[in-house]
Amino acid sequence: MCGIVGYIGSGNVYEILIKGLHRLEYRGYDSAGIALVSPSGKLNVFKAKGKVENLESFCADKNLEASVGIAHTRWATHGEPSDVNAHPHFSEDGNLALVHNGTIENYKVLKDALMEHGCTFHSETDTEVLVQLIEFIKLKNDCELVDAVMEALKQVVGAYAIAVIEKNNPDTIIAARQSSPLVIGIGEDETFLASDATPFVEYTKDAVYLKDGEIAVIKRGEPLKLFNLDNSESKIDVKTLEMSISQLEKGGYPHFMLKEIFEQPSTLRDCIRGRVVEGGRKINITGVNDNKERFLNAKRIVIVACGTSWHAGLIGKYLIQSMCRIPVEVEYASEFRYSDPVLDKDDIVIAISQSGETADTLAAVKIARSMGAFVFGISNAVGSSIPRETDSGCYIHVGPEIGVASTKAFTGQVMVLTLLSLAVAQLKGTLEHEKIAEIGKHILKIPTLVERVLKLNNRIERLSLIYTYAHNFLYLGRGYSYPVALEGALKLKEISYIHAEGYPAAEMKHGPIALIDAEMPSVIIAPRDHLYEKIVSNVQQVKARGGSIIAIVTEGDSVIRNIADHVLDIPEMPECLTPIISTIPLQLLSYYIAINKGKNVDMPRNLAKSVTVE
Ligand code: AGP
Repeated sequence: MCGIVGYIGSGNVYEILIKGLHRLEYRGYDSAGIALVSPSGKLNVFKAKGKVENLESFCADKNLEASVGIAHTRWATHGEPSDVNAHPHFSEDGNLALVHNGTIENYKVLKDALMEHGCTFHSETDTEVLVQLIEFIKLKNDCELVDAVMEALKQVVGAYAIAVIEKNNPDTIIAARQSSPLVIGIGEDETFLASDATPFVEYTKDAVYLKDGEIAVIKRGEPLKLFNLDNSESKIDVKTLEMSISQLEKGGYPHFMLKEIFEQPSTLRDCIRGRVVEGGRKINITGVNDNKERFLNAKRIVIVACGTSWHAGLIGKYLIQSMCRIPVEVEYASEFRYSDPVLDKDDIVIAISQSGETADTLAAVKIARSMGAFVFGISNAVGSSIPRETDSGCYIHVGPEIGVASTKAFTGQVMVLTLLSLAVAQLKGTLEHEKIAEIGKHILKIPTLVERVLKLNNRIERLSLIYTYAHNFLYLGRGYSYPVALEGALKLKEISYIHAEGYPAAEMKHGPIALIDAEMPSVIIAPRDHLYEKIVSNVQQVKARGGSIIAIVTEGDSVIRNIADHVLDIPEMPECLTPIISTIPLQLLSYYIAINKGKNVDMPRNLAKSVTVE
């Protein structure tokens, strides 16, 4: 997820764009850049790795006179954070500059075709392919910029929000969107565009939200024009903005955590994109494809991680063992690094880290590599320390996670672990093609199923009121639901400060059941799976001792519904996919209990988003 902003008007273009980038920095901060066309038509592009302030320092002594400009703050997806990979990207002859938020799935095919026509590239990004394609079409067809953009976008597969400006044309910006947000601010003799309205809400409240497939032609002194890809004009629908800047940064949600919970359908689509192909029959994980022998010959897999990432790793154990028949150990990175680990070249170590900067996990990676193991990273932050240290890896592509309590990163990690397991099973032949196709088909439905589960929001908000003042909670689950229980307990602990413990449900009778009484609510994850009869008896054991129960059950469940005090229904799906879905109600429950207690859910006490020290 990146931030783009553009401006055309009589204001100070540079100042307006830089201020707009600061407002969008929550969307990504790996690098930033700006492209300006002066009144005489000169095109200048300035960019710098790191935060927007680095760009400001870089621009301090530059000629910033401009009539029109576009700018970008990056969250890297293709090509690690660097000056050369920073946007704006420009065409080979320097005529065009383009900023982009999204991913071009077929960029390699397009890049190869352009290289056959003699185009050369300077960055590793998919975005540079797009601006070169537009220039190529513009020159070949000798057409207007808008026509070249329209033709280029017909060839693109993926998600984009783009803005393009050209040399010798200080009066025009062309913008377009497909699956990535883009909004236009209509001012008095000035026009803004941005990934959300925060960069221009102080200048104008009149906003036009582009719809998928629309192209905007923004010309100085002329009314905005919108076109579809078939060149038909599209209706302009001006909305009046009511939100504050702070609300806008959170997408209208009161907290980043709630926004990120509700982003999960979209972030899971981004995570899956290009990796589940042929209608689910084929799984495509580059890190596996490029290291087939490693995964074919692996004798053991050791997963190292911390916190929520460790919970994802535990789900990974169940997935890999059942699908790939490779023994898996899951280690807290902080314990692993001091446990005199025994590893050799036939071992694969999977390091999971949203931030890619967790000190204990980074240390574990270095130890594993020093012992000759093959280290595979699963991270969200492209180019962060852990991905740079591993032999290979896979990014989860969920965009910056601002809330300290991890939500969308957890489901992204579990999704990647699911895809990795399927890809290795596909490689080793340990799962029949029909089984892989069946699971793959369901994976493609996951984002829509998450949207359905998010509709429980209001019910969970009301339910939270009953349990806000409990002093302790138990979270119980079996099989795939046991790590989900651990994760649900951690969510509650870290944002509401209520003590909560996750337990394998069958362990209750080995001691913890002594805790059960009316003051000790239990959250029991009990989907219809191969352990269903067992979990029903665990629910009965808790109820028989007077415990209050919130149960997460599969839609249509009629047994647990008659035992538990409250049930929250999730859609039926293959057992291996339930963790991604069953965790959603637990995220919402912990959020609302913490809100009811007046806690700062985005920045809980004593915690940091990334633990870069021991
Ligand atoms: C999860 O909600 C916490 N914020 C924390 O446990 C986190 O998962 C842990 O610190 C690991 O962080 P990482 O994924 O960035 O390595």
